[in-house]
Order: sequence, then C-alpha cells, then structure tokens
Amino acid sequence: MSNYHIKSLEEYFKVYRHSVREPELFWSEIAEEHFTWRKGWDNILEWDFNKPEIKWFEGAKLNITENCIDRHLLTKGEKTAILFEPNDPNEEAEHISYSDLHKRVNKFANVLKAEGIGKGDRVCIYLPMIPELAVSMLACARIGAIHSVVFAGFSSKALATRIKDCDAKIVITSDGSYRGQKTIDLKGIVDEALKQCPDVASVLVAKRIKSDIEMVDGRDKWLQPLLDEASDECDIEIMEAEDPLFILYTSGSTGKPKGMVHTSAGYMVYTAYTFKNVFQYKNEDVYWCTADIGWITGHSYIVYGPLLNGATSVMFEGVPSYPDFSRFWEIVEKHKVNQFYTAPTAIRALAKENLSYLEKHDLSSLKVLGTVGEPINEEAWHWYNDNVGNKNSPVVDTWWQTETGGIMISPIPYVTPTIPTFATMPLPGVQPALMDENAQEIKGNQVEGMLCIKYPWPGIARTIWGNHERFKNTYFSAYDNMYFTGDGARRDATGYYRITGRVDDVVIVSGHNLGTAPIEDSINEHPAVAESAIVGFPHEIKGNALYGFITLKETGESRVQDNLRKEINQILSEHIGPIAKLDKIQFCDGLPKTRSGKIMRRILRKIASNETDDLGDVSTLQDPEVVENIIEGRIQ
Ligand code: PRX
Repeated sequence: MSNYHIKSLEEYFKVYRHSVREPELFWSEIAEEHFTWRKGWDNILEWDFNKPEIKWFEGAKLNITENCIDRHLLTKGEKTAILFEPNDPNEEAEHISYSDLHKRVNKFANVLKAEGIGKGDRVCIYLPMIPELAVSMLACARIGAIHSVVFAGFSSKALATRIKDCDAKIVITSDGSYRGQKTIDLKGIVDEALKQCPDVASVLVAKRIKSDIEMVDGRDKWLQPLLDEASDECDIEIMEAEDPLFILYTSGSTGKPKGMVHTSAGYMVYTAYTFKNVFQYKNEDVYWCTADIGWITGHSYIVYGPLLNGATSVMFEGVPSYPDFSRFWEIVEKHKVNQFYTAPTAIRALAKENLSYLEKHDLSSLKVLGTVGEPINEEAWHWYNDNVGNKNSPVVDTWWQTETGGIMISPIPYVTPTIPTFATMPLPGVQPALMDENAQEIKGNQVEGMLCIKYPWPGIARTIWGNHERFKNTYFSAYDNMYFTGDGARRDATGYYRITGRVDDVVIVSGHNLGTAPIEDSINEHPAVAESAIVGFPHEIKGNALYGFITLKETGESRVQDNLRKEINQILSEHIGPIAKLDKIQFCDGLPKTRSGKIMRRILRKIASNETDDLGDVSTLQDPEVVENIIEGRIQ
C-alpha cells in the first residue's frame, strides 16, 4: 500500500485514519518519498491557529521547479509537459516537452535576473493563457522571486491595486490577447494601471496579437529578443521550505483584495498529492483543466500539480463558444484528453446548447471528469455525467479555495462512490468540522453548519501579504483553533459533505468570487448615488448574478435612470472588471435598515431571489414600508 496513490476505498479509509492519527508522519512519508530536497527538514510541523502560525517542513531546502521540471528530464525529457491549444483552431497546437520547458524557463529566469529581479522580489504577471504565462511563473520560482499573477480579465484599476499592494518591481504582459473573435488590448490596460504605480521600473511584453502598441522608452521591452539572447542554463535558487512561492489575490467580503501567500514546500507536497489522487493520473494520460491560470485552479492544477507529477497538461487559450459550442469536445477528441476539469458555469452554458455539438465528437478517451468553483446543481451534474462522461467517467466535485492551495473535499475517482452535488469525503490529511451558531462543533451525521478545518494541511495559505492581522480576523477568529472557510455545508447520513455555498458577503458569479462591499464602494463613487446594497440571486448559467438596490440623491425620470444603470456598470467594469457588472439594478427610495442603521441584506437577498412570501422577522426594521415598496418595484 502506498500513502501517495490511493487505489481502493479500503485503502482510502486506512490512509485517512493514518493521516488523522499521525498527520505529521503521514505527510513526512509522502514528502520524503516523492520529491527532491536539497536538505531535509528539521521539524515537520509547527502550528498555532490562534496566532495564526503554520510552518511545514521547517529547515528543508528545495526549489519547486527542480521538482516540476529537472527531475523529469532523464526519464521524461521528450514527454509533452504543456500542450498549448491556441484560441484559433486553425493555429497549430504547441507541444512543449519537459526539456523544452526546462530551456524556456531557464531563459526567462535569466531575463528576469538581468532586469535585476532576485529572491523575494515580487513580479506581477498579467498575461493571457499563452505558454509565457506558465513559463514566467516557473521562471520566478526558479530564482526565488514571488509571482503575483493577475487574471487578465481584471481592469486597470484592479491591476494597479494588486501591483501596489505587493510592491511589484516589474510587470510581464503581452501586446494583447485573443478571446474568441475579439482581441483585448492588455498592454493598454497595463499602461493605464502603471500611471498609479511609479515604482514599476520595467515591463516585459510578449508578442501575441501583433498589434501596434506604444512602448514606453526605458520602461517597456519586447520579451522575445531578450529570451533569444539569454542562456538556457540557470541554476536554481535554493529556497527555505517556508519561503513564499507566490501571492494570489482573492476577493474579501470587505476592503481591498486579499493577497494570499503560499509557500514553497507545503504547497508543492499538497498540490502534487491531490493532483495524483483526484485525477488518478497515469503516465501516458493527457490532462486538461479549462480554468484560467489567473485563478488558483490554474496555478495548482494546470501548472504546479500536473508538472510535479510529470504529467501532460493542456493549456487552452480560447473560450468554449468559439468558433462554436463544440470547441471543448473538439479539443478532447483531438488531444485524446483523459481527465477533464471544468466549472459548473461552463457545464450549464454548454448544456443549454444542442447535443449535436457534443455528439459529433469522440469523447471515449475521457476517464475522469472534474468540477470546481461553486456548487454544482443536480441537473448540470447529470448532464455532465450522462453526456460528456457517457456514465463511464466518475465526476469528481472538488471543493477547495484559493486559501487552501489544493483540493480538500472530493471523491477519488474509481474509489469513492459519487452522489450528484456531493463533494463527498475529505482527502487524507483534511479534518473538516461543522460548527453551530454557538461556535460549537456539531458531531454526528445528517447535520448542517459552518464548514471549518481543524488541523493544518501542507497547502494552507500562511498569511495575507502585508496584513497578518486580517488573515487572523478573516479565517481564525470566528471559531477557536479552527480555520473558517466562509462556506456552509451539510453532512449526510453516510458522512458525505455537500457544500451549500458562501455564508458571508462573497457572491460566486460564473465561478468568480466577488465581494459585495468593494462593489458597493465603487458604485457609491457615482455622484448620483446615495447608497447601495448588492446581493446575489440564482442565475441559470452563472450560478449567481448580482442584483443592486440603489438609492439616488435625486430620483430622475426613467430615461435618466437607464443611463445611470449603464454608467454604474461602466464604473464596475473600470474598477473591478466586466465580471462585476450587475444584472439587475433597482432604484429604490430607501433600503431596509435595522434601528441601528445596518442594511438588512437577508431581506434583500430574499427579494432578489423572489422569495418574498417568507421574509422572516422584519419587526426590527426602522421603516417596514420600505420593504413593501422594494417588493413592488422588484425587477423580474
Ligand atoms: O464557496 C466555495 C466555492 O468557491 C469558493 C472558493 O473560491 P476561490 O477561492 O475562487 O477558489 C475557487 C477554486 C478552488 C469556496 O469557498 N467552491 C469551490 N469549489 C466548490 C465550491 N462550492 C461548492 N462546491 C465546490 N466543489
């Protein structure tokens, strides 16, 4: 029996029990056997959730890129590491072997060094889904620089906030990006952002769409000529186990985004282990995760997890609807994809289209289907299972978060019997707990509560960049000695978990986390707006969409109001990105408030979801009439 690769349910239970009884021994066995270390650890785990402080494998020295690339060179040098599928199906796919990747990462690392980047420096990466994105991340990791990838759908303001928050020295971007038939001027967005970031000394620009862009003298450089000149040898920087590997921003329910910090050794061990088990990856398999690398799913399960296992990882530049809705299935057939990992929102969008898009493609290579990012509804689960998997490929509903680094609760395919919409059981090393309103753990089955984790796992984020206090307050203050996830969950009679959704003011729209407070702050900047409250409501494709209840300083005519709606969404596009746009905007005379002046979002959530029959207790409202008026003006 191997702890590393679970192959039967019996084995799972055995390994799980071991991982709970002797977590340190369990992880150290895995770490020792499956990775290359330059020096072993002195101490496996040091932790205190109340501080919070979490240290795994202290004293160990390593470099994650040696584990992702170098150690495969001898046996898998010619194997495809990254299989790049371009936006345009007529452009040829690119097979980047492990030995090509080694050279490309080294060259990039040398370019960064020549730009004065070294260990601990922050590098902001704002790139589309092109190979340079993965290569630049690995190049940073190779020289010990901390990458901060910003999803290329974020606006210039959102980008500037993230660059400033971590004091990035350099930005890596491209002349633009393709998105279906559209092109996006990424460099223009960077230029705009950098007006607010005087400390960024250089910008490296990859050529992708070959557009005519402006290069700022002394600051901007085309990447390719520098790569051409650079040596393809670059020694690794030897890192301490707890040295930061990257920062990745995630929305909070209040304030600015949180720069979650992941460190070298723990993240490496955790992403490798979870990838191997959740996808049951075998040596010749082709694995494809459709996420963008700008999110944690792409970090952990396009780049690090697969490469750590010597896998072939498909990287897709385009969108599921271009040139038509058969694109995903065409790619599965073309590259004989064995594991396919996507988001419920994509499944719902594709399920709405004609089945012929799918039926004309041979999907028989598929062995495992995964979903991530939000609760999957029963209908979508069945559509995925029946039509994509032909009822032969287990669906793994993987629950995890930016903060957890890797998958936490998930079936193991061909091991765990699945039930639609259930993430099922915790992976080894993960100890979930459900908590009640009195902050007590709810034991037993057939119960529902707030989802917490009781014991550290190697992939947990260690802090929020520059704000450890916020890290503590957000995740470790609600419950004593527990990590609080912000999600609610139910445990059924067999002990299976079903995630019920966020219990804070974060709304997941099309799989993207959006904090409502930052959206409200942006809207309130509009001179006509007095006050706003944003809530989520169920949406057939996006999972949730945003509903804005807004009071104006002066109520105008409906034509003026229509213009205002456009202006408000424009502000949101500029401040955050198009994903933050509101689907519905209702102008109201007042918002429901408690006598102490707090907006009662619970009521607004019900109104937005058209559940007005049961609004609960409204007796504490300042002015109950407000609610009647809002219901009357509700946008269908
Ligand atoms: O609410 C949960 C939801 O996504 C949140 C984490 O979002 P993010 O940090 O952006 O990471 C997404 C990719 C890991 C969680 O708090 N979520 C994620 N996976 C699931 C899910 N909700 C239900 N079921 C899932 N499988």
